[in-house]
Amino acid sequence: MIKILAFETSCDDTSVAVIDSNYCVHSNLISSQVAHEDFGGVVPELASRLHLKNIVHLTEMALKKANCEFNDINAVAVSINPGLIGSLLVGVSFAKSLAYSLQKPLIAVNHMLGHIYANKIENPYLEPPYLALIVSGGHTEIVDFRAIDDFTIIGRTRDDAAGEAFDKTAKLLNLGYPGGPVIDKIAKNGDSKFHRFPRALNQKDEYDFSFSGLKTSVKNYVQSKNEEFLKQHLADIVASVQMAIVDSLVTKTINYAKKSGAKNIIVAGGVSANSLLRKKMEEASFGIGCNVFVPPLKYCMDNAAMIGAAAIEKYERKEFANLQLNAFSTKGTRFI
Ligand code: KG4
Ligand code: ZN
Repeated sequence: MIKILAFETSCDDTSVAVIDSNYCVHSNLISSQVAHEDFGGVVPELASRLHLKNIVHLTEMALKKANCEFNDINAVAVSINPGLIGSLLVGVSFAKSLAYSLQKPLIAVNHMLGHIYANKIENPYLEPPYLALIVSGGHTEIVDFRAIDDFTIIGRTRDDAAGEAFDKTAKLLNLGYPGGPVIDKIAKNGDSKFHRFPRALNQKDEYDFSFSGLKTSVKNYVQSKNEEFLKQHLADIVASVQMAIVDSLVTKTINYAKKSGAKNIIVAGGVSANSLLRKKMEEASFGIGCNVFVPPLKYCMDNAAMIGAAAIEKYERKEFANLQLNAFSTKGTRFI
């Protein structure tokens, strides 16, 4: 059994984990940077400085929690793209120097692939073919995986990502950042039929998404109401917005699953934590005789355990990076 020390610093969470080749997580520490809250979004320069401040201590703690020393580790894994370049660079430089000083292999992981592998932590035998709905703060994609390195992108967002739609709605309603978790919570007490917000690109064979019209529609709606109304109906409004986002995600994924005859659907990325999305996806998949997999809640948002999980097969294939490894910020699905 091998053990991997994994790092995730692509955005505003510093995370270090130890995971073994049976997908058993020995530790998975996450230091969320609350300092961004005052700014209503992530400040890149602040994020990289905080990663730098946290990473050494977090590594020591993660090893301690896993009852490990550096010598017990077989490889060092790190997310190298996509993300904020300054943030990624902290993790990559740290992982490179550790791998060099410990003389252990270095494994580069694509962050989005990490989100997909979060599903393996509870289901180690889960293998393609599957249809993946990838939904995070920067990505919204339906990807048909025949094998992990053989896939077709069926649809993607033409503008905002699903997580961004949650975050922008929260900002318009002064609910803080990130918006997804708080909207999820408040919406539980609301009526999702209170107002019908638009579902864009909703023709049957259209698998691309668009959420910027929804954002404008929420903005216009909020501006047209007075403060008292907004306060009184906050739960109804966010429940209605949440339903519009989830409806688009589920309808398009299920339509394609029906068309392609997919047997397994997986959901990945921070928005996979959304309780309505999990429920609707389960109901709709059941309706067409498809299995659905969602990561355990603690592995939905950015974390290093998922990066380690994606590194296990790379370790087995000896797919190691050299010390010229660099971070890059590129958006889009490039599951390297
Ligand atoms: O994957 P992730 O942690 O970071 C990126 O790679 O972007 O995703 C963060 C996104 C944020 O937009 C956040 O609002 C959203 O995931 N999110 C949620 C929930 N938890 C996190 N959206 C809806 N419902 C949630 N419960
Ligand atoms: Zn992420």
